[in-house]
Amino acid sequence: MNVAGPSTPFVDLREAVRKHPLALPGVEALSTEERANAREHWRVHMAAELASARVFSGLVPQMMAAGLPFEDVRDVTDMARQEIEHGLASARVVAALGGEPISALPPLDPVPNHERFSPLEAVIRNVISISCCGETLAVAVIGAERDRAEIAPLREVLTNILADEVGHARFGWRLLRDVEPAMDSAMKRNIAAYLVAVFERDLRVMKRYSDAPEASFAALAVGASDGPLAWSTFFETMTTVTIPGLERSGIAARWAFEKAWSRAGIVPLWGRTRSLDKLGTTPGGERWDA
Ligand SMILES: [Fe+2]
Ligand SMILES: [Fe+2]
Repeated sequence: MNVAGPSTPFVDLREAVRKHPLALPGVEALSTEERANAREHWRVHMAAELASARVFSGLVPQMMAAGLPFEDVRDVTDMARQEIEHGLASARVVAALGGEPISALPPLDPVPNHERFSPLEAVIRNVISISCCGETLAVAVIGAERDRAEIAPLREVLTNILADEVGHARFGWRLLRDVEPAMDSAMKRNIAAYLVAVFERDLRVMKRYSDAPEASFAALAVGASDGPLAWSTFFETMTTVTIPGLERSGIAARWAFEKAWSRAGIVPLWGRTRSLDKLGTTPGGERWDA
């Protein structure tokens, strides 16, 4: 990893990929544009995976401060390492698609310390944001990418990443279940209020993605990004997995999502009145516009 200046961290994995190159037979059949789209997706993915490592590393001292079991702390250090490996795996795909595995890194913000709250609540807030939201969405996105991948080595890369992401998501859901007896109703209310900000942030990011163009089927099969598909995957995961899961732990996630939704200024095409109960069963592929 290199630092070009104090505010421009970037990653250069050319040397690491040279030692372990990947071949993707069949990519030459893609058009120049399709290959460029896929390459860009994997480059962004590479940087995002590396940035995820700092998130799990940041959880370690918070989990220690909250007195969480040794085994959980150890598992989280493994997750940080796995994200680094995912970054390298993505870099190998970038190179196999004819690109240079070099990228600016996304902002490396520290994991929030929520210092006004107890160490346990601070960890719960971050684990919900990281695992129950982010990693749960990653499972849906990468699972779908894996299903579409037709080139065997690419499928293998995605299968390996997916197995880890499933572990990262399950960790959050299990931890939430384990700590639930220690959460009183005031803490649950505070967490729901915090979720409004988390959901609003995610909605704004995903809304931007949804404006990206659609990709061809051939480009999708090597991981090219597709705006409407990214949005519908996010929406379905939130309404069928994440929100119901948080509600099961007594956290008013449905309320928080509705609140975040109106704050983000996102209005369904057919108006504001449709309730989230019905949205939970909405089939994929529908467009929502601001
Ligand atoms: Fe990852
Ligand atoms: Fe992950």
